[in-house]
Amino acid sequence: MKRTKIIDALSSTDFGKEINVKGWVRSHRSSKAVDFIALNDGSTIKNIQIVVEPNSFDAEIIKSITTGACLNVTGLLVESQGKGQTSEIKAESIEVYGLSPTDYPMQKKGQTFEYMRKYGHLRLRTNTFGAVFRIRHNMAIAIHEYFHSHGFYYFHTPIITGSDAEGAGNMFQVTTLDPGRIAKEGKVEYDDDFFGRKTNLTVSGQLEGELGATSLGAIYTFGPTFRAENSNTPRHLAEFWMIEPEVAFVDKEDLMDLEEDFIKFCVKWALDNCHDDLEFLNSMIDKGLIERLKGILNEKFVRLTYTEGIKILEEASCSGHKFENEVSWGMDLASEHERFLVEEHFRRPVIMSDYPKDIKAFYMKINDDDKTVQGTDVLFPQIGEIIGGSVREENYDKLMGEIERRHIPMKDMWWYLDTRKYGTCPHGGFGLGFERLILFVTGMQNIRDVIPFPRTPKTAEF
Ligand code: 4AD
Ligand code: MG
Repeated sequence: MKRTKIIDALSSTDFGKEINVKGWVRSHRSSKAVDFIALNDGSTIKNIQIVVEPNSFDAEIIKSITTGACLNVTGLLVESQGKGQTSEIKAESIEVYGLSPTDYPMQKKGQTFEYMRKYGHLRLRTNTFGAVFRIRHNMAIAIHEYFHSHGFYYFHTPIITGSDAEGAGNMFQVTTLDPGRIAKEGKVEYDDDFFGRKTNLTVSGQLEGELGATSLGAIYTFGPTFRAENSNTPRHLAEFWMIEPEVAFVDKEDLMDLEEDFIKFCVKWALDNCHDDLEFLNSMIDKGLIERLKGILNEKFVRLTYTEGIKILEEASCSGHKFENEVSWGMDLASEHERFLVEEHFRRPVIMSDYPKDIKAFYMKINDDDKTVQGTDVLFPQIGEIIGGSVREENYDKLMGEIERRHIPMKDMWWYLDTRKYGTCPHGGFGLGFERLILFVTGMQNIRDVIPFPRTPKTAEF
């Protein structure tokens, strides 16, 4: 018999019809007259109730069915007596695909996320992680839908590169050289390495993305990104996914409009397409979640220059607000400063622009004051920086000046500089941290819990 997915069985009103479902047991309750088994197959957060009349089955087998077991159930679809469910299944035959012994680590309710991270292979089977990863999938679809329908091309940039796009030096080296030999000889000959040069995992697809934008007009990347920063925070991963649109012929205002429109589209997509999972997370994880998501859609993001932001922070400081890191023009904002602006001062997302050039990457467009650059970061409640973006410096001489001032090795940059040498154009783009978006949309607190298999310092299990 053909299997029916539980999401379809639950919405079917073909009462009296025989159907087949398969899935994992979420709970098993016994009473004298009947047993109730809640079955889930991942197609929805909702379980279907299997009603088992013990007399019709082998009692030992029914008793052995505990949380985590996998079943193949055929029975009659009947209208549910229970509140809040439409249909359930009166079991006629039950095949046990796999039992789940009592040491099943996801047996108990209310385990901490920290505990569940130790069982990264099995936590996926819990309600919360099911909800999070269905939403994650839907957000990926939203992103492709947004860019495709706005005329952007999905552009694949390399994972192995020779460049450090952000100039921050937090890179994972890629090599086939034998570390033992290097240690013995005390030197490294990159000519002998696989690519004949030093290479690393990409920290950003932007530089190659700019090549795409200056030919296709508007592109976006969506891929894994790697940073070897030793940041053990609930907002950082060593391997995360980034979406990087890059567009020709935009200015700072256009870019900020794009950032705001894009994020709002994604949040609306979640509200429109992930209703049941959001309801679940709203009731179990974060009571303010759905309100917060709806709120974002109705608010115009604040647009604020860095200099104006510093002024607000200094004023707050003067009137008694205690920051751990002292505020002064030129500093990189710490998370406490971003959160003060977004969560306390404005109570809305903020797009901050025009940062001091020394705290930003070499490629950002330099303003006429020669002190600030046209960066456009989006700061979100609970998250902090969710997007980092900028207008790019398109003037060859100015860009060269910055590259030299920062002592960036020129010979590695020749192909990037060619964009400014041949038919240069005003352009810009940004990077959205996919997991930070998922944090916001799910209300989860730790970035390790919104990616199936997190990579962080000292952890690469599973
Ligand atoms: O601000 P970042 O470093 O910007 C860039 O990489 C630019 N090349 C993007 C561009 O203009 N095309 O990173 C962009 C975003 C951040 O705002 C943050 O959301 C996310 O990527 N991000 C991280 N997410 C998780 N773990 C980390 N270690 C992250 N580092 C950055
Ligand atoms: Mg940034």
